[in-house]
Amino acid sequence: MKSKKIPVIDLNENLIQSKLDKNLFNFIIEKELPSTNTKLKELAEKGAPEYTVLISDFQTNGKGRLGRSFFSPEGTGIYMSILLRPDKTPEASLLLTTCAAVCCAKAIEKHSGKKVEIKWVNDIYTDNRKVCGILTESSVDCVSGKLRYAIVGIGINVFSPSEGFPEDISTKAGYLFDAESGKENMRSDIIASTLNNFIEFYPKLDKKDFLQEYRNRSLLKNRKIEVLHQDFSEKATAVGIDDEFRLIVKYPDGRKASLSSGDVSLLI
Ligand code: BTN
Repeated sequence: MKSKKIPVIDLNENLIQSKLDKNLFNFIIEKELPSTNTKLKELAEKGAPEYTVLISDFQTNGKGRLGRSFFSPEGTGIYMSILLRPDKTPEASLLLTTCAAVCCAKAIEKHSGKKVEIKWVNDIYTDNRKVCGILTESSVDCVSGKLRYAIVGIGINVFSPSEGFPEDISTKAGYLFDAESGKENMRSDIIASTLNNFIEFYPKLDKKDFLQEYRNRSLLKNRKIEVLHQDFSEKATAVGIDDEFRLIVKYPDGRKASLSSGDVSLLI
């Protein structure tokens, strides 16, 4: 695996640390990796501590949810994974993902001034385009049934990619700033704000202090959606987010369901 320790100018540990409220995180910053989630999993297996944060300027094999890939071109995005070791069962993964979504949403709002919406469960939109995705992966201890660790992977399209987005996502993906906008420290600003927000919510995850913030930004609420099951899809209306961060949907025949995972797409 190619892994060079050449931090690019704005992805610089001292710069990021200087913007953090607490000195809690151990940063590893790389020029290029296949995937920060995959690499951090390796480090977690070797005993890396909680709050290790791995950032790469470029990912050659960025991973998205449901086996998809995450377009991660050089120099324009944030590709960051956070290692956590919460004393919790795997059900906490949904809380971690939604907590991270609120943290990213608030950071993006603060620095871009744009209205930010969260598409359940892990996608963040501005101007009706996806600008951020979150992938939480975990390892469970078979004996205790608790998490050994969880890795929260965050991808944010900060600047316009020099060669545009690939065709399959070109009508859906967006970015926060034009590459020529001159906002050269923006990635470190958004990283630091995201981590500052995370440190506010994560230590008391069970209190779900971010639930209302999540609901307030719901992209799907009262919208017609398609729920994608393994072999078929169903039209429904998204009614809201319940106290467990499940998506409440109502089907045309009156049935209601609370979805805790899976994929939904918006019908126009
Ligand atoms: C999604 O949109 O389905 C989730 C995308 C998550 C992308 C981030 S980028 C940093 C981390 N490393 C990865 O390989 N994926 C996540």
